[in-house]
Amino acid sequence: MSRTLTVETTPYDDQKPGTSGLRKKVTRFQEANYLENFVQSIFDSLEGFQGQTLVVGGDGRYHNAQAIQTILKMAAANGFGRAVVGQGGLLSTPAVSHLIRKNEAFGGIILSASHNPGGPDGDFGIKFNAANGGPAKESLTAKMFARSKVIDRYQILDADDVDLDSIGTSRLGGMSVEIIDSVADYADLMETLFDFDAIRTMLAGAATLLFDAMHAVTGPYANEIFGKRLGVDSAHIINAKPKTDFGGGHPDPNLVHAKTIYDAAMKADGPDLAAASDGDGDRNLIIGRGCFVSPSDSLAVIAANAHLAPAHSGGLSGVARSMPTSAATDRVAEAKGLACYETPTGWKFFGNLLDSGDITICGEESAGTGSNHVREKDGIWAVLMWLNILAARTMSVADIMADHWATYGRNYYARHDFEEVDAESAANLMRRLRERLSSYPGTETDAGRIQTADEFSYFDPVDESLTEGQGIRLIFEGGSRIVYRLSGTGTVGATLRVYIERYEPPDGELDKPVPEALAELIAVSRSEAGIERFTGRTEPDVIT
Ligand code: G1P
Ligand code: ZN
Repeated sequence: MSRTLTVETTPYDDQKPGTSGLRKKVTRFQEANYLENFVQSIFDSLEGFQGQTLVVGGDGRYHNAQAIQTILKMAAANGFGRAVVGQGGLLSTPAVSHLIRKNEAFGGIILSASHNPGGPDGDFGIKFNAANGGPAKESLTAKMFARSKVIDRYQILDADDVDLDSIGTSRLGGMSVEIIDSVADYADLMETLFDFDAIRTMLAGAATLLFDAMHAVTGPYANEIFGKRLGVDSAHIINAKPKTDFGGGHPDPNLVHAKTIYDAAMKADGPDLAAASDGDGDRNLIIGRGCFVSPSDSLAVIAANAHLAPAHSGGLSGVARSMPTSAATDRVAEAKGLACYETPTGWKFFGNLLDSGDITICGEESAGTGSNHVREKDGIWAVLMWLNILAARTMSVADIMADHWATYGRNYYARHDFEEVDAESAANLMRRLRERLSSYPGTETDAGRIQTADEFSYFDPVDESLTEGQGIRLIFEGGSRIVYRLSGTGTVGATLRVYIERYEPPDGELDKPVPEALAELIAVSRSEAGIERFTGRTEPDVIT
């Protein structure tokens, strides 16, 4: 027999969800009642879930399974009627989003710190997704934080652990727990969106795919979808076994951490498409033979070519990008007469536009692209979209990029990250920029004249909410931009992100190395913000 316990607790003061849920060191989550407090704060911020379904899963990082046991017992004690859980506790973020929608669930809880490192000394994270399958809105995360500051008790079932490894249904108090195949539903969805026959035929010929699952959650998805359903040789799906510490690596699909596939793709006999995804399977890296595709460009190419995939053969309703993402997609939207929205950083801001049907495709410069098939960005989806485009156009990735720039022009783009800087200094840097905003317009710099300067705020046309303080923008005559914002996903100090962009028209120079094309703007980005003075740094830690 199991019984419900009401446990007394005291609040923690640092449970404010960031860009994508609550992220902290594993060790913080292991402190007494830390996870319990936040989970109860989630439940206390929701209404009407009695007897309803909750989807639960995570990216398999250290502490995943243990956290799921706690969450299931608390969900049962709080009155959920049914939990749907991925086998072994594994579910990619887009798969959770799909399962919420498919099961008409009340919502879902995802355990992940995305691309942050895992293991006992790594990061852990938790976030709640609502009935539309998307991340909780700002108004809801604000409620959770407020609740976490005063929480004084939580409810949990005193029961044995659930066997997460065996598919089947069991009971936890008044709640049924269904352990399901983590991959099948998601793989079936993908088959409805893309031309699997054409991709299979292409891959059975000379074309090759190399996929790096980075020892994270997408391994099983890649084996099923690319391997079994599309015929990719298992030797070309690397690091496919999920590990609690991601094999000691950093599951961030960029040119540093996915260097193996980058090096392979840069060889003359390299794969036609090399791709990777991150810890929880929502990000993607796309590299053609000899040609890295920046995420901002990838979004633009997808917007221009999505009609080649069966899901979008009727065209798109509109597109959206996060503010710091390059305006390459805007060019496509303009040429095709599509509505184009600019939202704050974070996937949660796309949800309303997707739900209302205003947009079909959206993305971020941080390696996230997706569509209205779920309410999260989706790494495997992006790879399938590129495969579908390659199969339909029978051109190389490099040729597709050259053709794209020759049609729409090129938005040279880079993001410079200054990581783990002192939080107060970073705040001071931003404050000084904010104070100087009104003096910028008309200022001459080595990179041209500044036309406007502002702090980005977003008015959501669907729910009419206003989100302020979303990054400082210096916009130059001719459309070049420098954007500054502080990361909302880090767990140590502050990370200053500087986004730099310059547009080159179709008849301009389209083949310059990016650092060269952006040299003047980069210098101005450093001097105007006083980056060295405030942070002590002369160079960024990461350039993407
Ligand atoms: C980062 C990215 C952002 C993305 C988020 C979650 O957030 O910049 O685009 O939505 O991770 O994957 P940030 O650390 O910049 O707040
Ligand atoms: Zn992620």
